[in-house]
Amino acid sequence: MQLANRLQPLRTNVFADMDRAKARARALGRDVIDLSLGSSDLPTPPHVLEAIAQSLPDPSTHGYLLFHGTRAFREAAAQWYMQKFGVAVDPETEVLPLVGSQEGTAHLPLAVLNPGDFALLLDPGYPSHAGGVYLAGGQIYPMPLRAENGFLPVFDDVPPPVLAQARMMVLSYPHNPTAAIAPLSFFQQAVEFCQRHDLVLVHDFPYADLHFSATPPPSVLQADPQKRCSIEFFTMSKSYNMGGFRVGYAIGNAELILALRQVKAAVDFNQYRGILNGAIAALTGPQDTVQTVVDTFRQRRDVFLSALHRIGWAVPIPHTAMYVWAKLPEPWGDRSVDFCTQLVEATGVAVSPGAGFGKSGEGYVRFALVHDPAILETAVDRIASFLTQ
Ligand SMILES: Cc1ncc(COP(=O)(O)O)c(C=O)c1O
Repeated sequence: MQLANRLQPLRTNVFADMDRAKARARALGRDVIDLSLGSSDLPTPPHVLEAIAQSLPDPSTHGYLLFHGTRAFREAAAQWYMQKFGVAVDPETEVLPLVGSQEGTAHLPLAVLNPGDFALLLDPGYPSHAGGVYLAGGQIYPMPLRAENGFLPVFDDVPPPVLAQARMMVLSYPHNPTAAIAPLSFFQQAVEFCQRHDLVLVHDFPYADLHFSATPPPSVLQADPQKRCSIEFFTMSKSYNMGGFRVGYAIGNAELILALRQVKAAVDFNQYRGILNGAIAALTGPQDTVQTVVDTFRQRRDVFLSALHRIGWAVPIPHTAMYVWAKLPEPWGDRSVDFCTQLVEATGVAVSPGAGFGKSGEGYVRFALVHDPAILETAVDRIASFLTQ
């Protein structure tokens, strides 16, 4: 069967190599400790589950949800932005519910790029940002992130011929996988740069709450309150442990929101109304559960980092929850895929190779702290024996 060429870049994926290595480890009888996926192991808050449960028997929730979801959901999102970031958002034209934020960031390039146009992406970055550009027939210009620049891109390094053909730039801070945080001044520069070069500025913001810093990470809308060129994506997956429910939203420039809505109208009928009701309960209800998530990840980070330091693996302390981005010790240097496939087959500990997040991720691995402290310590013991074998 002949399939579309656009599938090719989606097929060569190092995470598929990792999945095969995990399967081999299981077949060898290894007890797999999976630190490779950023899927939270923590439960969805009870008041959110209750709101969904109450919706289930109600027949008015059972039909297609047309247009752009419910007004109540869009208002809850707008209110959350006002409370958190002091940015006024029109719930009618500037908010769009999504079937998870990945769906939105992957669909947006279809609304923005013509075939051959460039998207400027973070390298390393979240793989579906690249996937969406490939599906839209666009070209990717990877903006390398280096430790010496705090894992922030240098906009002026983008070559003028690329800029001339570029239509969008995608940022995402707090950053997966490096755990870097960007200050408001960085977003102000990004807005200025995007306006100067007529680029759409996309900010994927799933870790808005998952940070340990005194000041919360900024929203791009604080740097572009008039929403001249920016669109931001927030998900319920991380702050409220709702990854499996698939719900998030886009917020920002009305023209972009409408364009994304038009793409989605050809693809889906929105998330189930009952799940949107759960998301409303999450956004408008008690927020102490979010603090519990952050505290849980802080404890895990402390335990995991002390264990890594104890075995002599020097890793800087991340100020973002959930991930640890670690430079590989010698002799593994630039062989992150070999390291990860051999580690999981030998010990059962699965981690993500930095190369899976882009060329500039090579030489690193990403640990997702999605297990209890005791399991994290066992994982580090196994890593120590692997490194010394
Ligand atoms: C940067 C980034 N964007 C999006 C997602 C996925 O979010 P959602 O569950 O809303 O699709 C993740 C999940 O790990 C992520 O790290």
